[in-house]
Amino acid sequence: MPATIINGAVIAQAIRQEIATELAAIKAHHGLLPGLATILVGEDPASQSYVAAKNKTAHALGIHSEQMTLPATTSEEELLRIVGQCNRNPAIHGILVQLPLPGHIDETEVLFAIDPAKDVDGFHPVNVGKMMLGQRCFLPCTPNGILELLQRAGITTSGAEVVVVGRSNIVGKPVANLMLQKRAGGNATVTVCHTRTRDMAAHTRRADILIVAAGSARMIKADQIKQGAVVIDVGVNRVGQSATGKAVLAGDVDFDDVVGKASAITPVPGGVGPMTITMLMQNTLQAAKQAAGLL
Ligand code: GUN
Repeated sequence: MPATIINGAVIAQAIRQEIATELAAIKAHHGLLPGLATILVGEDPASQSYVAAKNKTAHALGIHSEQMTLPATTSEEELLRIVGQCNRNPAIHGILVQLPLPGHIDETEVLFAIDPAKDVDGFHPVNVGKMMLGQRCFLPCTPNGILELLQRAGITTSGAEVVVVGRSNIVGKPVANLMLQKRAGGNATVTVCHTRTRDMAAHTRRADILIVAAGSARMIKADQIKQGAVVIDVGVNRVGQSATGKAVLAGDVDFDDVVGKASAITPVPGGVGPMTITMLMQNTLQAAKQAAGLL
């Protein structure tokens, strides 16, 4: 039997509806309008489309959003000055600096400069540390979106063998950490595979839940998964262009190969991606409520 397709777009839409209801309530009762600043440096097409999608969703939900698009030649000093301005702006509750940044800018310095109370990406060391300790903080959007997706799809994580492929700071490391925590959507036994892992297939074949965030198109094939595994594909790889000039996307999982063996699988696009954006909106709402003393 082919796998159930976990429709991230539909699940994300349901959460957006919940966020919209809460946004309307805090506007009506407290006159509070959450504000998000997005900062994009350079002209990377993938980053442009991600930031555009984030602003479009914010706009659709009635979140105030300010998009700052800066040339690739922007100095680190100038970027830090803009981040500082956003930190001091009371209309802005959440700040997102799209990554990756051009090579001449030190990403760590920039992420460190964001006020942790406005760090809706959850990338500031204060939030990373709190997440690690299981304390309340801004959770990184893609990892949090994956946990939410699994929970809402009715997939049991407690006691499950979870294998993560990829060890990035944005996905691999934090999702592994969240999945092992003693919390709803966690309590899993977690293995992290990476480019130096010996015999990766020996690990991935043990997974009840396989989370792939490796950045390599269609790298996971059917012979690398267990019969009935749940497969979460975080990869977004541009593998070509359609006749109309739109990017053709493929995940890190060979969907057509794996769909007959998995019990459930996320598609690309329409799986994890919409959840990432939705979690950003949720974090922006959380930031505004915290700033107003409502949390
Ligand atoms: N680049 C890839 N994913 C992300 C993300 O979740 N946030 C930011 N700021 N940059 C990214």
